[in-house]
Amino acid sequence: MSKIFDVVVIGGGPGGYIAAIRAAQLGMTVACIDEWKNSKGGPALGGTCTNVGCIPSKALLQSSEYFDHANHHFADHGIEVKSVSMDVAKMVARKDVVVKQNNDGIQYLFKKNKVTFFHGRGSFQKAVDGGYEVKASGATEEVLMTKHVVVATGSTARALPGTPFDEDLILSNDGALRIGAVPKKLGLIGSGVIGLEMGSVWRRLGSEVTILEGLPTFLGAVDEQIAKEAHKAFTKQGLKIELGAKVGEIKTGKKGVSVSWTNAKGEAQKLDVDKLIVSIGRVPNTVGLNAEAVGLKLDERGAIVVDDDCRTSALGVWAVGDVVRGPMLAHKAEEEGVAVAERIAGQHGHVNFNTVPWVIYTSPEIAWVGQTEQQLKASGRAYKAGSFPFLANGRARALGDTTGMVKMLADAETDEILGVHIVGPMASELISECVVAMEFKASSEDIARICHAHPSLSEATKEAALAVDKRALNF
Ligand code: FAD
Ligand code: NAI
Repeated sequence: MSKIFDVVVIGGGPGGYIAAIRAAQLGMTVACIDEWKNSKGGPALGGTCTNVGCIPSKALLQSSEYFDHANHHFADHGIEVKSVSMDVAKMVARKDVVVKQNNDGIQYLFKKNKVTFFHGRGSFQKAVDGGYEVKASGATEEVLMTKHVVVATGSTARALPGTPFDEDLILSNDGALRIGAVPKKLGLIGSGVIGLEMGSVWRRLGSEVTILEGLPTFLGAVDEQIAKEAHKAFTKQGLKIELGAKVGEIKTGKKGVSVSWTNAKGEAQKLDVDKLIVSIGRVPNTVGLNAEAVGLKLDERGAIVVDDDCRTSALGVWAVGDVVRGPMLAHKAEEEGVAVAERIAGQHGHVNFNTVPWVIYTSPEIAWVGQTEQQLKASGRAYKAGSFPFLANGRARALGDTTGMVKMLADAETDEILGVHIVGPMASELISECVVAMEFKASSEDIARICHAHPSLSEATKEAALAVDKRALNF
């Protein structure tokens, strides 16, 4: 006999599990089906983000940053460390514990909010009068009847044509997060977000890292001035980033991986590495969903077509997160999940795509919200710019981390903040103030007039706002 729910969510990543919890908070009966398995075959809620994405990558970034500090920065503070070594197995095991804490946390939240969880694959069976039949296939098979379905099946790593991931020599994000020993030489294809974060982890631990990037520009989506500053810092640290690289044949053998490639000048090159991480973007995942059974439209990238409110082409079926258009970010998925649950409940959930922040958790961190200077120029909008270097910030000097700047862009006439771009220490935290400001349509003068604690990195944001009006006080 089928079980009846108000809402069935397929996928338990940040988009799906948050949608399930919010729908349950709003008084609906909710089921969530997720197929992710931990190493013992048990459930591991949280999707890509928790298992092989945001959380484990940040755990490794933290461990490797401590190692880097002990090796290169403690001495500046008078701390003498005789011998520093890294136990990679322990670092990876710690990361696994952090992941499990997050998996368990979501299971606890499901229990607390009375979300019924099915461990297995969710797929559409058919549309029925007033709703849908959804199959949950795991250790047992159940048919769930529901009026509303939220599809949150996420994304998977894109492989290079003809070079599938074996997760031993050719690694996706999954394998990249569980390398067992520091590779002497590590290659990466793609200097996007994963390339830079994973490249940083293994460089700090001692790998010789080379990144082959297809485009001639570095971090094309980032404000040019910020990208330039970041490129300078990464290169100084020892990351070898080859722009305009055309990757050719990739061979694997006993000695590792050999990549034939052509540089920006058109010269043939060879890169021999112990392991190769391929980080060239991700593809929306609808495998096994049987989307055609209910007529879900997909676009040419394989993403589920949705309107601004995450409605799909099938009435009562919604889709959120990486499986739909827009940035592939956990917080964007979560916001869509909340908004969809609220719309199902008859409320007016809303996601403001103009204020979704981006963060790259390298050192220095890169964070931004809103439009870049090149976007404003291209759109012909008149703007004012102000920036402030961390070199002139007292807290950054005390931290011993003065790389980078805060840059603020505001409308030339109204002074409304149009974008903020940060490269430097704790950019991930600093950007929140700017997101709040933009949500409230603040002007740069609003930030400039707010009292910021001293000494704090956030004073750089205030000074950048003052600089928009050419009246920075400390630079
Ligand atoms: P997912 O997290 O991919 O979850 C989808 C879930 O659905 C999975 O558990 C999957 O097993 C399940 N599923 C799929 N099909 C079915 C089915 N038919 N039946 C049952 N279950 C199914 N974003 C950030 O914002 N910040 C970061 O720092 C960050 N770091 C990242 C680092 C890496 C290495 C990677 C790869 C990604 C990172 N991201 C980050 C991106 C972030 O992980 C994704 O944007 C986010 O996970 C998308 O959430 P989602 O719910 O749409 O999908
Ligand atoms: P990405 O889109 O960030 O970067 C891919 C890079 O690969 C681009 O620079 C692209 O030009 C390059 N590329 C594509 N094809 C190529 C080829 N054939 N040869 C050489 N270079 C090529 O994708 P990435 O790094 O795989 O990450 C996927 C997504 O995961 C990100 O876009 C982001 O949405 C999410 N993510 C977010 C993080 C964060 O928020 N901190 C961290 C990691 C991932």
